[in-house]
Amino acid sequence: MLRLGVNIDHVATIRNARGSSYPEPVRAAELALAAGADGITAHLREDRRHISDADIALLTDLCLKRGKPLNFEMAVTDEMVGIALQARPHAACLVPERREEVTTEGGLDVVKGANRIADATARLRTVGARVSLFIEADPVQIRASVEAGAQVVELHTGAYCDAAREGDADKAAAILERLKAGAALAADLGLEVHAGHGIDYATVKPIAAIPQIAELNIGHFLIGEAIFVGLPQAMQRMRILMDAARLERLEATA
Ligand code: PXP
Repeated sequence: MLRLGVNIDHVATIRNARGSSYPEPVRAAELALAAGADGITAHLREDRRHISDADIALLTDLCLKRGKPLNFEMAVTDEMVGIALQARPHAACLVPERREEVTTEGGLDVVKGANRIADATARLRTVGARVSLFIEADPVQIRASVEAGAQVVELHTGAYCDAAREGDADKAAAILERLKAGAALAADLGLEVHAGHGIDYATVKPIAAIPQIAELNIGHFLIGEAIFVGLPQAMQRMRILMDAARLERLEATA
């Protein structure tokens, strides 16, 4: 079954807007897990704009207690590797990070950063973390991820979701083909394939229908929808769409 990882960063964004302690990301994580999330994702950014070090400690404890994976998103820096080695998360997802960006805008350049990424990957693997690299669905980046020692790649779906939302059907279709080919190549090379960024109800099905994808990580849209319908209901609807996409694909290929 396709797993749903819930990214709770933007609960921290709301909390931090007031500089107070409410609402707590760990409470959202608890709710998400109770509502059937397969894991929790949190990105400790270098500028701490949303998730804090204290959040990571609380989320680590919660996920351990609930027996669910914490996916620790992090930049490839000594500071972040040090924090991850202490926290020992189930998974570490290495992402590019620029202070001026609003969100993670592109994939990691695993070719350019080969040595740094391979070194961080090796260190993270010593504490049992499954290392995932957040990349564009580019064969060169996928092959470089294998070389770097990663076990997982998370394919960046942001450009697909943007094109689909803007109604640029040709562009969306071309990017979707690249995602499909990338997922197939990564799986052939022995990598587990995840996908994420920008996914909403309107874009989830074509992505979820890609058979090699084992996990979707979704944050902004689910936390936004939670304002209107509550997190469990938003997750439930997303899950229904994910499962329907898988089922329709199975039926189509049967
Ligand atoms: N996956 C990765 C690696 C990300 O950096 C993010 C954004 O933090 C997501 C998934 C979730 O993206 P969104 O918040 O747009 O659903």
